[in-house]
Formats: sequence, C-alpha cells, structure tokens
Amino acid sequence: MEHRELAKVAIAAREAAYVPYSGFAVGAALLTKAGKVFSGCNIENAGYSPTNCGERTAIFKAVSEGEREFTAIAVAGWPVGGKPGMAYPCGVCRQVMMEFMHPDTFEIIVCTSESDYTVHTLAQLLPHGFGPASLK
Ligand code: THU
Repeated sequence: MEHRELAKVAIAAREAAYVPYSGFAVGAALLTKAGKVFSGCNIENAGYSPTNCGERTAIFKAVSEGEREFTAIAVAGWPVGGKPGMAYPCGVCRQVMMEFMHPDTFEIIVCTSESDYTVHTLAQLLPHGFGPASLK
C-alpha cells in the first residue's frame, strides 16, 4: 500500500477522535505485513492520564486481533477546526512501537494531507531504543 493511501485512512480516522479536553484530534492507520490496515484515534478522559493516543489505539486494536507484524503507520494530528500540521508520535507511542516494530525498517508517515507527508524509520525517531532484544 502506498504512503498516500495510508495517509488517507489516518486522516479519515481522525474524524472519530474523542477530544473534549485538548481539542487536538489525531488519526492513525497501521499497516500489517500482510497488507491489512487498522485505524485508530485518540480517546481522551476526564481523568486526563487514561487518555490513549491515536497511534496506540491502532496498535492495540491490531495486536488484540492477533497481528504482530507491521510495516508502517500513518499519523494525522491537528486541532479540531484548525490548520493541518505535522504531529509526530509522542514518546510513549514510540516506545510501544519499539515492542512490535523493527526499528530500522518500520516507517512512520506523518501527514497533513495525502500529498504532504514525511517518512521516518522508528530508529530515526527513537535512537538507541530499548526493546525486546535489549532484555536478551
Ligand atoms: N496525541 C496523540 O494521539 N498522538 C500523539 O502522538 C501525540 C498526542 C493526543 C493525546 C491527546 O489526546 C492530544 O493528542 C493532545 O496531546
């Protein structure tokens, strides 16, 4: 699947964001090795800390359905009713990616539209990351 197609799914998933506190809506689209796409959005909470980011929603949906192999994730995040901007995954989401994704090959596509995006590997966004291999 092309980057632009994954960006399109992330932008659509952003519409479901539940963001009564920050007003910052995030959508994500996670691609499995087999070509299946899992979408996610951020889900906020009155208790603030239980808030789940869009990226983790997509990852947890996929893992909870038995998926373990992923090749890319697209992320689209900007204020509700505001101008699209590039929202890079937070540190917690990068760490969750470190658990399942290969740092040198997994692609993180941050987009504002289907034609405006950046692509980085997980290793570029989380250098020297601590993951399952670190425990061996
Ligand atoms: N957020 C995400 O969903 N993903 C990120 O990578 C950055 C932050 C959410 C969390 C919160 O609901 C809102 O954006 C503002 O921080």
